[in-house]
Amino acid sequence: MKIEKQGIDFYHQHGYLLVDGLFSYEEIDLMKEQLPSLYAQDSPRLVRETNGEVRSLYGLHEVSDVYKELCSLERLLQPVKKILDSDAYVHQTKINIKKAFKGDWWEWHQDFPYWHIYDGMPAPRVVSVMIFLDDISDLNGPLYMIPGSHQIGIADFQQKDSIEKQEEEKYYLSALSANLEYTVEQKILSNWYKKNGMVSATGKAGSALFFHGNVFHASNCNLSPNDRRVFIITYNSTENTLKKGEKVRPSFLSNRDFTPLNPVKGSWFQKHQLEKNIIS
Ligand code: SIN
Ligand code: MN
Repeated sequence: MKIEKQGIDFYHQHGYLLVDGLFSYEEIDLMKEQLPSLYAQDSPRLVRETNGEVRSLYGLHEVSDVYKELCSLERLLQPVKKILDSDAYVHQTKINIKKAFKGDWWEWHQDFPYWHIYDGMPAPRVVSVMIFLDDISDLNGPLYMIPGSHQIGIADFQQKDSIEKQEEEKYYLSALSANLEYTVEQKILSNWYKKNGMVSATGKAGSALFFHGNVFHASNCNLSPNDRRVFIITYNSTENTLKKGEKVRPSFLSNRDFTPLNPVKGSWFQKHQLEKNIIS
C-alpha cells in the first residue's frame, strides 16, 4: 500500500495520519507471538506500572529480528521518507502494553522535547508510527491528539508538584513512567482544544498511525477487559542526527547508529513464517 500525496498533505496539516489495514492479521499475530519471550527477560528495557504490570518494552529492534526487519518495510519507509523529505533511521522502538483493567495513562505531552533535551536531536524532523496490535476503540485507552498542535513548536511545560526522584542510574525513567517529566501546560492545551478539538486514534489491529514529534497527545487508563497493545517506531531524518544532549541515554532509548534504512519489499512475513515452520 502506497500512501499518496493527499495523505502526506493531511499529515503536514494535522500532525498525524491514520491508515487502516496497513498490516494483515497474520502479520500482527507474528508480531504478538514474539512478546512472551521478550517480556520474560528481566531487563532495563522493561518498564513496569506502579501495579507491577508491564507498561512498556523498549528497543525491540535490537533484540528481535522480526521487529528489526519490520522497521525497514517499504510500506512504512515510503511515507516516512516522504514526510521527512530525506532518508531515515530508527531513533527508538517500543511496545506499550496497556493491559486490560490495569494499564495506566499517558499524560498530555509532546515527544520531541524529550529527544531534544535528553538526546540532542536538533529539530522535530521526526515521525513516529504506532502499529495497532489489538483492536482499539474509545473504550480501551486510544491515543488522543489535538490536530494541528505540532505547529506550535515546543510548548511550555506544565509545572508539576512532584516528579518522583529516580535512582541515579535510572534517571531516564521519568520520561517513561505514568508521571511524565515534561507535560504540556494545561492552559495551552485548553486553547488548542477550543481551536481544533480533539481526536482519538481508533481502528482494527493492523492499522497504523503516523504522528509528528510535536503533536500534543495523551491516552487514558484501560479499564476495559481488552488489552491495548501498540508497537511504536520513531524514525528520525538522517539530516537531523543527534548532537550532544543533557544525557547519553542507553541505545534502547536513543539509538546512535544513523545508517539510513533501505526499504525492503514483501518477504519479511514469509521469511519468518518459514523459520517458524522449520523450528516447530
Ligand atoms: C506515547 O505517548 O508515546 C504513547 C502513548 C500511548 O501508548 O498511548
Ligand atoms: Mn509520546
